[in-house]
Amino acid sequence: MSGKPLVLGGTNGEHLAVEIASAAGYELGSVEVKRFPDDELYIRVMSEVSGRDVVYVNSLQRGVNDSLVETLYTLDTLKDLGARRVVAVIPYMSYARQDSRFNPGECVSVQVLAKLFRSVSVDHIITVDMHLHRISDPNALFGAAFHNITGVRELAKHFRGARWLERPTVIGPDEEAEQWAKVMAEELGRVGYGVLEKRRLSPEQVVIEAKGVDVKDKDVVIVDDIISTGGTIVEAVKALRGLGARRIGVGVVHAILVGNAYAKLLRLGLEELVATNTVLSPISRISVAPAIVEELRKIL
Ligand code: R5P
Repeated sequence: MSGKPLVLGGTNGEHLAVEIASAAGYELGSVEVKRFPDDELYIRVMSEVSGRDVVYVNSLQRGVNDSLVETLYTLDTLKDLGARRVVAVIPYMSYARQDSRFNPGECVSVQVLAKLFRSVSVDHIITVDMHLHRISDPNALFGAAFHNITGVRELAKHFRGARWLERPTVIGPDEEAEQWAKVMAEELGRVGYGVLEKRRLSPEQVVIEAKGVDVKDKDVVIVDDIISTGGTIVEAVKALRGLGARRIGVGVVHAILVGNAYAKLLRLGLEELVATNTVLSPISRISVAPAIVEELRKIL
C-alpha cells in the first residue's frame, strides 16, 4: 500500500480530483456512485483507504441535494473503512447563503448543513470562497479544521494578461464583495477598487446603485463569488455603463448559472466573462487546483 495520500472525486469533483492528484503527486482512487431502482444512491469506495490520508473532492452543485447526500455518505464511509485522516474538499459549498432567519419560520440552512458535516467527523474541510459573512467560527460550527481559501488570486492571474485592461479598476457588485475586489485590485498591481450598493428584492431581482465609485473611461473588472441567476451582474453592468465605464469584464469564482443566466450575460457584450472550475459551466476556465494543492500541502 502506498504511503501517499489518496484522492477521490465525487460526481461533481472528479475533474478537480484528477488535477489535484496529478499536481500534488498523490494517488488517484475511485468511488462508484450508482442508483438503486428506487432512486436511492449506492456508494462504494473502490480504493483501499484503511490507515491512509484521504482527500475527497466534491462540489455541492448540479443536483445540489443529491451531491450533498453523496458527499456525506462517502465521507462517513471513509471513516468507517478506517481512513486515517479525511480531508473534505468542497470547492462549492451550497446552502451557505441562507445563513440567518431573514423571515420568521425560515430554516437557517447553513446551521443544518454544518450539523450534518459534524456528524460525519472529517478532520479538515477545504472550501473555496464560501459565503461565511455571518459565521465567525467555522471550525467550531463544522467540527473540523476549516480552511476557506480564495479562487480570486487564480482569476487575477488571468486578468493580469488581458489586453483590453488598459486603465484597470476593480468593482465588487455589493458590500460583501469588497474582500474579493480588494484581492483582485492588489493582484492587478494595486489598482483602485470600490463596491456598489445592492438591495435584493427577491431571489431573482436586485437593485444596484453606484455611488462614490470612479469608473469614467476606465476598464472595469467586476469580481464576485457567485453568479446564480445573473441578476446581480446584469444590474451592476448597467450601473457602471451609466457612469461611463469604458470596457467591462467579469470574473467570478462559482458559476452556478441557473436557467437562462448564461444567455443573459452573453447579451451584455462583455470583454470577458470567466469563472473558476469549482463548478463546471461554459465559463469555468480557471482552475482552482493549484490553490487547493497549496493548502493540502500545509495540512498533509
Ligand atoms: C450574494 O451574496 C452573492 O455574493 C452574489 O452576488 C449573488 O449570489 C449572485 O446572485 P445572482 O446571480 O442571482 O444575482
